[in-house]
Amino acid sequence: MKIVHTLSELIAARAELQGSVGLVPTMGALHNGHLSLLQQSTAQNDHTIVSIFVNPTQFLPGEDLDKYPRKPEADIKICELAGVDVLFMPRPEEMYATIEPTIHAPSSKAYILEGLARPGHFDGVLRVVLKLFNLTKPTRAYFGKKDAQQLYLIQNMITCLFLDITIVPCEIIREDDGLALSSRNAYLNPEERREALKLCESLKCATYLVMKGERDISVIQAAMLQALKPLHVEYAVILNRDFDTIPSLHVGHSIILVCAKVGTTRLIDNLWI
Ligand code: PAJ
Repeated sequence: MKIVHTLSELIAARAELQGSVGLVPTMGALHNGHLSLLQQSTAQNDHTIVSIFVNPTQFLPGEDLDKYPRKPEADIKICELAGVDVLFMPRPEEMYATIEPTIHAPSSKAYILEGLARPGHFDGVLRVVLKLFNLTKPTRAYFGKKDAQQLYLIQNMITCLFLDITIVPCEIIREDDGLALSSRNAYLNPEERREALKLCESLKCATYLVMKGERDISVIQAAMLQALKPLHVEYAVILNRDFDTIPSLHVGHSIILVCAKVGTTRLIDNLWI
């Protein structure tokens, strides 16, 4: 595995790769969720490039940019064992110029849910992902359904900017007890870790109602809010897969999204139903 830190090293390493290339963009502190993306990429492509970059433009002032978990040695081992060909670990100066065009994610989809609490977050995500696409020219790029709104906005960018890249959506990987894996789970103390289970329990509760034939969104939402008590809930919503509001749940076309604060940690989870 080649580890590269500069743009010129990355471009040279990319030029040596023949055949299909899978790209897995990450912010590091890799866990089994990330690993499942790496494994899908190595299985489906001749070569895999992974980026590890805690992207400053997607953090708002006062967010956890400085304390975001960083584990470069462990990450390198994981990538090596997963059969990654090129690992790109740039410094911020490498990725951003002082003066440059920016990108605005469509506000109707980027300033709701995650974007409501984190305005401008998705502008930063699209900006860095587009740079990574241009640098690595992947055949396929791998993103987790865990960040469903991010996945939607990246797919939308691919379509609208006519980029010739296939986005591969990857299933959410969970702990045995159901908690969705996230680098931010590292912030939870044992008590908060138990409380965090309420997010996936609220999704299970919604699934149970849907299986019983319930389609009324307000009824499902009320049951979810009950299951989430006493957490501070930011949203518990049911939308279609284009992130539009819908009159009632339509199985096979809907997504249930939940965000709640456990202590000071914001956690998200969702279910494609
Ligand atoms: P990061 O949070 O490191 O996540 C990298 C990728 O791993 C994302 O596509 C995310 O959806 C996926 N992922 C995280 N947890 C997962 C889980 N439990 N199961 C399946 N996939 C999971 O998302 C980002 O980084 C950044 O915004 C990035 C796209 C790299 C741009 O900076």
